[in-house]
Amino acid sequence: MRIVVTGGAGFIGSQVADAYVALGHEVLVVDNLSTGSKSNLNPKASFLEGDVRSEAVAKAVEAFKPDALNLHAAQIDVRKSVVEPRFDADTNIGGTLNLVEAGRRGGALKRVVYAASGGSMYGDTSVLPTPETEPAAPVSPYGVSKFTGELYLSCYRAMHGLHYVALRYANVFGPRQNVHGEAGVVAIFSERLLRGDGCTIYGDGGQTRDFVFVGDVVQANVKALTSDYCGGVNIGTGVETDVNRIFALLTKYAGVDKPPAYGPQRAGEQRKSVLANGKAKQVLGWAPRYDVEKGIAETMAWYQSHR
Ligand SMILES: NC(=O)c1ccc[n+]([C@@H]2O[C@H](COP(=O)([O-])OP(=O)(O)OC[C@H]3O[C@@H](n4cnc5c(N)ncnc54)[C@H](O)[C@@H]3O)[C@@H](O)[C@H]2O)c1
Repeated sequence: MRIVVTGGAGFIGSQVADAYVALGHEVLVVDNLSTGSKSNLNPKASFLEGDVRSEAVAKAVEAFKPDALNLHAAQIDVRKSVVEPRFDADTNIGGTLNLVEAGRRGGALKRVVYAASGGSMYGDTSVLPTPETEPAAPVSPYGVSKFTGELYLSCYRAMHGLHYVALRYANVFGPRQNVHGEAGVVAIFSERLLRGDGCTIYGDGGQTRDFVFVGDVVQANVKALTSDYCGGVNIGTGVETDVNRIFALLTKYAGVDKPPAYGPQRAGEQRKSVLANGKAKQVLGWAPRYDVEKGIAETMAWYQSHR
C-alpha cells in the first residue's frame, strides 16, 4: 500500500512508520518537526517537511496518490489548547480535513487510520473502565478537536464510503517520547531521574491513568490497516495505575533511590482514567502484550542508552 503517515517524525507516528515500512508498504512521512525530530525518521520512508494545514502538503499528498492515510500529526498540548483553542482546532480539525480531501483527490484513497484520544474524549466520567458506548464529553479544546476529527471521518464514511478506524489511545508511553512540552509523566520523570534531578508529583500521587506501551499501540495501527471494522475503538490496557506506582517503577529501573516531592494538585485534573479494551480484542484482534512494569523497564533502558 501507499501510505501517508502524518506526524511520522514524532513519538508514536515514527514507530508506526517503521512498522509499515517493515511490512513492505511505501510510506510518505509528513511532519513539520514542531515536536518531532529528524532522528526518528525511517530512512526507507520518503519525508516531506511541511504543515498538515498547508496547500503545499495537500498538493504533495494528492500527487502521492495514497491508498491509506495514517493521521498522527496534531497539536497535542492540552494546556496550549486552552490558551489557543483556534490554533488547536486549525491544526487538529483543519489539518485532518486538508489531508483527507487531498487523499481523496489523489483517487486511490480507501482507508484512514486516525490517532484519537480516549483519555480526553470521555471527560470526567465515573464509568470505569470506560467503554466506547460512553458518550463523548471532552473538557478541553484538545479533547473537542481530536474527537471532531473522528466525527468528520464518520461523516466521510457516510458521504463517500471512506473506511476509517479511530484508535482512541489511553496514555501512551515508551521510547522516543518527547520530554519537553506536554509530555507524559513517564518521559519527564525518566529524564529527570537519569539527570539526578528531583521529581514533583502534583497532588497525592493517587491519581490513576491507563498506561499503554507504544509497541502495543503500533500493533493496533498495523491491525487497523487491514481490519474490516470501521469506527472508533479504545486502545488501552484496562488497568489503572497510579502515579506513585509509576514513580516507584521508574526509580527501580533507573537504579535511583530518591523520594518524590509532592506539590499542589493541578486544578481540573482528572482523578481516575482507564479505558475498557474488550472491543479492541473483538473487532481488531488486538490486546496489549506489555504490562506497565515491562513497558517501563524497556523505556528506561531506552532513555539510558539515548542520553
Ligand atoms: N501520547 C499520547 O499519550 C496520546 C494519547 C492520545 C492520542 N495521541 C495522539 O497521537 C498522535 C501522536 O502523538 P505523540 O504523542 O506521538 O506526539 P508527538 O508530538 O511526538 O507527535 C506529533 C507529531 O506531529 C507533528 N506535527 C504537529 N503539528 C503539525 C503540523 N501542523 N503539521 C505537520 N506535523 C505536525 C510533530 O512535529 C510531531 O512529530 C497525536 O495525534 C495525539 O493527539 C497521543
